[in-house]
Amino acid sequence: MAQVTDRRAEHVTRLVHESSELRALLDGARSAGKRIGFVPTMGALHEGHLALVEHALLSADFIVVSIFVNPLQFGPSEDYSRYPRTLDADVEACRGRGVDIVFAPDRETMYPDGFATAVEVSGVSDVLEGAHRPGHFRGVTTVVAKLFALVGPCTAVFGRKDYQQWKVIERMTRDLGLPVGIIGMHTVREPSGLALSSRNRYLSEAERGRALAIITGLRAADAAFAAGERDAQIIESLARGPIEKAFDRIDYVSVADAESLQPLVGHIASRAVVAVAAKLGTTRLIDNFVLGD
Ligand code: PAF
Repeated sequence: MAQVTDRRAEHVTRLVHESSELRALLDGARSAGKRIGFVPTMGALHEGHLALVEHALLSADFIVVSIFVNPLQFGPSEDYSRYPRTLDADVEACRGRGVDIVFAPDRETMYPDGFATAVEVSGVSDVLEGAHRPGHFRGVTTVVAKLFALVGPCTAVFGRKDYQQWKVIERMTRDLGLPVGIIGMHTVREPSGLALSSRNRYLSEAERGRALAIITGLRAADAAFAAGERDAQIIESLARGPIEKAFDRIDYVSVADAESLQPLVGHIASRAVVAVAAKLGTTRLIDNFVLGD
C-alpha cells in the first residue's frame, strides 16, 4: 500500500490525443522496465473507474486510462449524443490517483476514413445485452481490440458491473492471442447498494430511490441461493419481483451460466450469475450478482 501511495505522489498525468504520442510514451515506459496497466473507459469517471485504476496499480507501474465515447457500441435510439462528456474533470480526477496517461483520441484517430474492420465474438455476445442491443458487443470488441493494439502488452482492468462485457473481452483476448491480461474487478457500490455508473447522473432523486429495487432483488436471489435454493426459475422470480414493481421496463432478469452467459433452466448445477437490465424513464441500468460469491 505504501508503494502505491509513494507512486501516486511522484507521477505526472499527461493528456494525450495522438496514437503516435501514446506509443512513444509507452515505448519509453517499457524500456525503463515498467509494466503497463490499462483502464479503458468512456469517461464521466466516478469512484468505480478510479477503483479500477487502484486495482491496476497492484500489478502495473505505468497506467493508461483511455477516454473515448465509442459511437459503434450505441444503437440508433440509444444515448450516444447525450452521453456525458467531461474530459477536463476526468483528467483532474486522474491526477494524484496514479494515472500516467489519459488517452483521449478523437473519432478520426480511432476510425479513420475508410475504416472497415469489425471484431465480433459469437456465443457469449449473443444473449442478454447482445440480444437487446444488437451490434453493441461488436462495437465494444472492435474498439477494445483497437485500443489493445495501440496500448500493446499490458494488464487491462474492467468492471464486473458490465459482467457480460468482461466475459466477451476475455473470450476475444484468448481467441486472438492478444498479449493482454484481463482482470475483472468487483462492482463498486454506493452505501445504498446502487452500483456506480456514469448513467446514474441521469436519475432524478425519486428514480435513485426506485433504482434500489435492483439490489433488493439481487440480494433476495442471493440469500435464497445461500439458503440452498437451486431452482433457476425461483431464483429468477425472487430477483424480478422488486424490479417489476419499481421499474418502467425490464429488458431481462436472467439466471445464466457465469462463463457462457447462456440462461439456466431448472436445477442450477454450475456457477451462475443473475443479470438484470431495466429502465427507469429513459435511463437504462444494468447490474448482476454471481450467486454465492
Ligand atoms: O465499459 C466501457 O466503458 C466501454 O464499453 C469500453 C470498454 C470502454 C469500450 O468502449
